[in-house]
Amino acid sequence: MDQNLIYKNNSLFLDGLSFKEIYEEFGSPCYIYSEKTILNNLRRYQDSLKDRGLICFSVKANSNTNILKLISDQSAGFDVVSGGELAKVLYVGAQPNKIIFSGVGKSNEELVMAMQNEIKSINIESISELNRINLLSKNGKFKPNISLRINPEVSLDTHPYLETGSKENKFGISLDEVEECVKIIKNSSTLNLVGLAFHIGSGIESFEQLVPALDVTKEVYKDLSKFFDLKIIDIGGGLSHKKSLGEDLIELVISQVLKQAPNNAEIVVEPGKSIIAEAGFLLTRVQYIKKRNKNIVVVDAAMNDMMRVALYGAKHEIKNISNNEKTSNASIIVGPICESSDVFDEDSFIKVNEGDILAIFDVGAYGFSMSSNYNSRLKPSEVLVSDGQAKLIRNRESIEMLINNENIF
Ligand code: LLP
Repeated sequence: MDQNLIYKNNSLFLDGLSFKEIYEEFGSPCYIYSEKTILNNLRRYQDSLKDRGLICFSVKANSNTNILKLISDQSAGFDVVSGGELAKVLYVGAQPNKIIFSGVGKSNEELVMAMQNEIKSINIESISELNRINLLSKNGKFKPNISLRINPEVSLDTHPYLETGSKENKFGISLDEVEECVKIIKNSSTLNLVGLAFHIGSGIESFEQLVPALDVTKEVYKDLSKFFDLKIIDIGGGLSHKKSLGEDLIELVISQVLKQAPNNAEIVVEPGKSIIAEAGFLLTRVQYIKKRNKNIVVVDAAMNDMMRVALYGAKHEIKNISNNEKTSNASIIVGPICESSDVFDEDSFIKVNEGDILAIFDVGAYGFSMSSNYNSRLKPSEVLVSDGQAKLIRNRESIEMLINNENIF
């Protein structure tokens, strides 16, 4: 187990604070994040990139404004995919020249907002979007920096929902469309092509998996440099957070990318999971245990709070925060939602009693950010452990919040 995560006298501690105390103060379900882990991972990227690039945290992984501020204060930038995310990072003081905007379906309003704020790059994902931004920039007298997000036509061995770089995916500009894009940009008086981007998916476990996409992009970069003053290669995000792959995956991958990328190119990286997945825990209380061959353990968190298991069959370790013992009787850990997919672990061997508090691990990325109000459940609170203190960074939702946005006629 990680140094910052230890059992002392049968009680699990994070960065010196016991989960039990946090539970007693904030209740459950509740997300808890380790500031220390977020900063360590961020520093890993920054030290590896040195002055050759910029880390743009992928806001979709976790968009709590307190966490975004923490990241912005370390001089990092952001990868946003909606007007809402752009507004949030500007709100916490992010510098526009450290923001990039990706996404296949940007609306007129979102494109205009990005241009008005003169962000570092708007990553264009289709010929239609290119034509649209060309028109909007002329009408609004903007001179936006844009990059072409290339679809490198490579596959990644991950969950099919998490793969984004193969030819059939909706993402990016296919290689046979690049020539048409060049024509449009050459004929435009407003568009400023500054770079190329790709993102092949989530769950990359080695540098080798990135190589085919990097090679394709380098080729296109070389070709387009004949016509444009390109400056940026954006390699997307997607690095796995799994510590079993080795402590230094980030250093390894970035150092190889720097070796192989054109010398004059600034490298932009858009990590989400590898910054914040392992920094987050979801605390949940055992409500009921139904005695069966395989006991059914019903907890108070559900798939609406954390949907990665129900949606991708993801495996998340679960520990009892007051008891590290195992049992030989398997149980299934489920939430209260009226769906059979509301499961956190099909085969758990941890020892639990009713009333115990469990911690679901590695949920800092795409945990809260994908949560919903399904079954009219209140979204959980979020707590940041920082310098030995637990700070409430998002209140638990209230019944008023569920009702107030709706109109009865
Ligand atoms: N850049 C782009 C353009 C992306 O689409 C994504 C993620 C990232 C960066 C960050 O990827 P990361 O480093 O976090 O793997 N909800 C899924 C993950 C979906 C990722 C979507 N795009 C999950 O919980 O596994």
